[in-house]
Amino acid sequence: MKRTILITGGAGFIGSHVVRLLVNKYPEYRIINVDKLTYAGNLANLQDIEDRPDYKFVRLDICDFDAICQLMKEEKVDGIIHLAAESHVDRSIKDPFTFARTNVMGTLSLLQAARLCWEPLGWHCHSEKHSDVRIPCRLYHVSADEVYGALALDNPGGEPPYGSDFFREDTAYNPHSPYSASKAASDHFVRSFHDTYGLPTVISNCSNNYGPYQFPEKLIPLFINNIRHGKPLPVYGKGENVRDWLYVEDHARAIDLIFHEGKDGETYNIGGFNEWKNIDLIKTMIRTVDRILGNPEGHSLPLITFVQDRAGHDLRYAIDSTKLKSELGWEPSLQFEEGIEKTVRWYLDHQDWMDNVTSGEYQSYYKEMYE
Ligand code: NAD
Ligand code: TYD
Repeated sequence: MKRTILITGGAGFIGSHVVRLLVNKYPEYRIINVDKLTYAGNLANLQDIEDRPDYKFVRLDICDFDAICQLMKEEKVDGIIHLAAESHVDRSIKDPFTFARTNVMGTLSLLQAARLCWEPLGWHCHSEKHSDVRIPCRLYHVSADEVYGALALDNPGGEPPYGSDFFREDTAYNPHSPYSASKAASDHFVRSFHDTYGLPTVISNCSNNYGPYQFPEKLIPLFINNIRHGKPLPVYGKGENVRDWLYVEDHARAIDLIFHEGKDGETYNIGGFNEWKNIDLIKTMIRTVDRILGNPEGHSLPLITFVQDRAGHDLRYAIDSTKLKSELGWEPSLQFEEGIEKTVRWYLDHQDWMDNVTSGEYQSYYKEMYE
């Protein structure tokens, strides 16, 4: 009997890369992708694997506890990789309730369903019930670095790193936005289920991701699309905030590794020691898009438009991923220059994907946010 892995949020940006990786790498698994298909979920992200016999998509809200329980029992789910979430800070500032609902209550619904399904099996996989080899089940919660809050910018004019401090696994939680508060709360619930009930869990906290299939409300795809169309680039504040960027396929590889080899009850930070000031990153994107489109150097620089800062804007994120490297041997595979080149080319080559996700509701979101 094949092991059945449920991936939540698999139609979103990172989730679609995780689903693709696991479907291609593990023919011995059945992969079930549970996604509500909010504005951020898009089945076109998975067209290349949608017909695989051991892959199944189920449209479901993770907050629907009864439906999740039923699915877990019917499909004999052995493991969960949980990525479904509301993920955009600016939306969380406008509508915090949706974030608490999906990120906190949705995670709680999965935890409780997993507990009810797996506790009677002694926390072991269905597939191994009648075998001597006992494989434990596991719920893997995918979280973000912003639960730790913001770091100081001690060295704004110099070279990266832009400060002496980094987020480590034992850094105290100090979230500032409704998004990061909801992710922090969900992390606490995951730990509480491990400590209280013995549910086998693992958590990772990753830095900002970039790459194909990211919804164009986040900095990198939004700006690539705007540069292409000669639209203003709304830089929050002075553009001095620092983010630590990781190519999405490197995150997906880390998730695969941690799901299979991470220790129960542990947390792993994921990041590539790749800090960028927003304004420097934006200039790099402008240079890359202009070069690929054959525009003269500096052509799109006048699109930079400094706008009012984001409320509660965290100054600097920087992840220390030493534990993941030393304990599980993970390292990022791509240099940033290579990753950004691939990413820019992907968006420029997939205008149909961009047109599809920016039609309809996106137009009113964009107007409200930026016009
Ligand atoms: P995304 O917004 O692109 O995708 C989220 C997916 O979850 C979508 O497919 C959406 O339809 C689905 N979803 C939302 N609410 C749901 C619900 N109630 N029930 C079922 N499905 C629902 O997000 P992403 O950027 O791919 O992030 C995935 C996960 O990784 C999130 O948990 C996020 O917090 C975390 N993360 C993201 C980043 C990043 O830079 N994007 C970095 C670190 C961690
Ligand atoms: P974002 O992609 O929203 O990710 P996060 O808020 O999780 O870090 O934003 C990345 C950085 O870019 C962040 O410092 C905010 C900034 N930003 C802008 O300056 N303008 C924009 O239009 C957006 C979306 C982000």
